[in-house]
Amino acid sequence: MLSDKTILLIIGGGIAAFRALELIRRLRERGAKVTPVLTSGAEEFVTPLSVSALAASKVYRNLFDLTDEAEMGHIELSRSADLILVAPATANLMAKMAGGMADDLASTLLLATDTPVMIAPAMNVRMWEHPATRRNLATLEGDGIRRVGPDEGPMACGEYGAGRLTEVPGIVAAVEAFFADGPLTGRHVVVTSGPTHEAIDPVRYIANRSSGAQGTALAAALRDLGARVTFVTGPARVAPPGGVDVVRVESAAEMATAVAAAMPADAAVMAAAVADWRVANAGDRKLKKGDGGAPELVFAENPDILATVSRAADRPALVVGFAAETHDVVAHATAKRARKGCDWIVANDVSPGTGIMGGAENAVTLITETGAEEWPRMSKAETARRLATRIAERLA
Ligand code: C5P
Repeated sequence: MLSDKTILLIIGGGIAAFRALELIRRLRERGAKVTPVLTSGAEEFVTPLSVSALAASKVYRNLFDLTDEAEMGHIELSRSADLILVAPATANLMAKMAGGMADDLASTLLLATDTPVMIAPAMNVRMWEHPATRRNLATLEGDGIRRVGPDEGPMACGEYGAGRLTEVPGIVAAVEAFFADGPLTGRHVVVTSGPTHEAIDPVRYIANRSSGAQGTALAAALRDLGARVTFVTGPARVAPPGGVDVVRVESAAEMATAVAAAMPADAAVMAAAVADWRVANAGDRKLKKGDGGAPELVFAENPDILATVSRAADRPALVVGFAAETHDVVAHATAKRARKGCDWIVANDVSPGTGIMGGAENAVTLITETGAEEWPRMSKAETARRLATRIAERLA
C-alpha cells in the first residue's frame, strides 16, 4: 500500500504519455496522493483536464505561472513529495536531467529536488540504444536515480526492441518496492574504492590504474538494498554514486584515517587499490632536475587498512577484501584471506589480456570460509548486485 505517500508524477512528452492516466488511477487506488506535472510535449498527448480529473489534483505546467508560484513555488513543489516519478521519461528529459538543465518546470523541479527520483524510460529503440542515451543513463544511475524498465516489445512506431514503457502494474510494483524496506535497511557499510596517490613532492605522485568502477558499483548496489553507505574514495576516474556519504581522500594514510573514523559498521568492503608503499622522503618543494642527478626515493610501507579493520576490536561482522592477481588467482587469494584476517576475498584476474582493469566487466572468484566460487564474467554492476545480495544474506 502507498497510503500517506505523495508522488510527484512528471509526465514526459511521448506517445506512452497516455498510459500515465492509468498509472495515476492505480497509484491512487493504493492510497497514494499524486501531484501531476506535465511537460509541454506531454500536453500534445494527454490533456491537463483528464490528468487533473484522474489525479483529483491541480496539474502543474509552467515554470513562470504567477498563480502556481504564489500557491506553491517550484522549489517547494519539488521537495513536497516522497518520490518523484518520471513516466514516461523521454530521451530528451533524461538528457536534461543528466546535463543538469532547468529550462522548464519539469527539469527545474528535477534539478531543485533532494527527493529520490525514479524514471520509467520510454522511447524508440534506436534512441534508447544511442550512445548519448547510454551515457546519460550511466550518469543518472551514478547520481542515484532509480529506474524501472524500459521493456522490450513492439513499439508504437512499428519497430521492435527495448524502449517500451513498462506496463503500469510493473511501475506500481517498483514504486511499492521503493517504499518497502530493503534487506540492508538500518545497516551501515563502509566501502573503499579507487586508487591512492602517494606524493613524491607537491606536484608529483605515485598512482595505479584503478578506475574505481567496481567500488562505485558496489556502493550503489548496497545503497539500493537499503544500506547507509560510507564511501571512502581515492582520486577515481568514475564519479561517486548519489545517495551515499562520500569521503574523498588521496593517500593510503588518509584512507586509513577515514575508514577508522567511519567505524563502527556492520560490514566493510575494501575495493580500493591501495598503494603498498609511500615515499618516506617526499619533498615539500618540487624536486628539480640537476640538483645532483636522479633523486633517490625512499619507501615506507603503508598501513594495511583491510588487515587493520579485520583485526580491530570493533570489527564489522563481515569484512570483504579484494585481490587483483595476474596468476594462480585462487591460491594467492586464499592465502591473502588468511593473511589479512578478512572473511571473504573477491579475487579477479587482472592480466592485461582480460580487459578487466578499467573495463566495464569483471570475472571474479569469491573466496569464503567454505571455499572458492567462480562467478561467470558479467558487468561490474551485475557483479556488484550479486555481491551486495550475498552481503545482505550474510548479515540477515
Ligand atoms: O595485498 P593486496 O594489496 O593485494 O590486498 C588487496 C586488498 O587489501 C584490497 O581489498 C585492498 O583494498 C586492501 N588493502 C588495504 N590496505 C593496503 C593494501 C591493500 O586495505 N595498504
